[in-house]
Amino acid sequence: MKRTAILTGGGDCPGLNAVIRGAVRKLYNNNVEAVGILEGWRGLIEGLHKPLHVSETDDILHLGGTILGSSRTNPFKKPHESIPKIKENMKRLDIDALIAIGGDDTLGAAAELYQKEGIPTVGVPKTIDNDLHGTDYCFGFYTAVERAMECFDWLRDTARSHRRCLVVECMGRHAGWITAFAGMAAACDYILIPEKKADIEDLCETLKRNRALGKLYNLVAVSESVKLGESHILQTAEKDDFGNVRLGGVGEMLAAIIQKKTGIETRHVVLGHLQRGGAPTAFDRILGTRYGIAAAELILKGEFGKMVALRGNNIITTEIDTARSGYKTLDMSLFALAEEFFK
Ligand code: F6P
Repeated sequence: MKRTAILTGGGDCPGLNAVIRGAVRKLYNNNVEAVGILEGWRGLIEGLHKPLHVSETDDILHLGGTILGSSRTNPFKKPHESIPKIKENMKRLDIDALIAIGGDDTLGAAAELYQKEGIPTVGVPKTIDNDLHGTDYCFGFYTAVERAMECFDWLRDTARSHRRCLVVECMGRHAGWITAFAGMAAACDYILIPEKKADIEDLCETLKRNRALGKLYNLVAVSESVKLGESHILQTAEKDDFGNVRLGGVGEMLAAIIQKKTGIETRHVVLGHLQRGGAPTAFDRILGTRYGIAAAELILKGEFGKMVALRGNNIITTEIDTARSGYKTLDMSLFALAEEFFK
């Protein structure tokens, strides 16, 4: 291998730059040049790129986002147009292998490019949602939890001052990892996750009980994909290239229900993209670095169609396909611990 391309796709995530830095360094140490593809798959289709030297990636470990930019472009939406362009650009830029850093959509496309088109690809699992199969944790998840927990702590101050209930809507798509972890870390009165049917009566009773016990305020964590009726609450009916809807609005609805049923003055906050920004935690900087180096090692060994992953405390290798085998939902034994506090 002489020239490896690196791209970041899907929603950005703290720790992406750590992966890029780790991979570039490992490749450089083994005389392989790295080239950055800008804006995910769109960059590979349109030939958007920039050189990735060690000097350019040395000072990025602490930065949130991705220095390469990202997009939710799906190269298989119009494969007859996109795939020839990808092949052409790879040839023109002299790229002989590719590291794709992304979630189920980006890695799903990487798997297809390898299996159907024979493009030598290696994957790195990324998402704040932590819902990818094959890996215990994705980098970015703990940073998102940390950010959400800080917000809960700030909201606690104003909730207490005004004796209010604050409902906080968290990201996570169809998995409750962020909501449950941030909710537990912030000692929320109640946590609603998509893995468990919402029980509004139980929620309201718990809030009233806590007030009766002398608590002056309440904090409620709710995942963006919790259903209050039959269907998800959406910001818009629009779908992205991979068919993902834009969730949002459940916090506002829930706040109105709580106020009506309990008489407690209630407000809502949507944490939204605050959970995706900012500097990665030490854990995510180190996990990202380990992933980046391990991905470059796969390139150097010529082991394509694989993805790096965390199992226990070890970095392992698994099939890149694993990432698109459905959502890894929350470990309910952990949620049972959270529930001890709102029984
Ligand atoms: O998958 C990461 C994620 O942040 C989800 O938690 C959220 O539903 C979605 O992306 C938001 O996507 P966008 O940035 O396209 O609005």
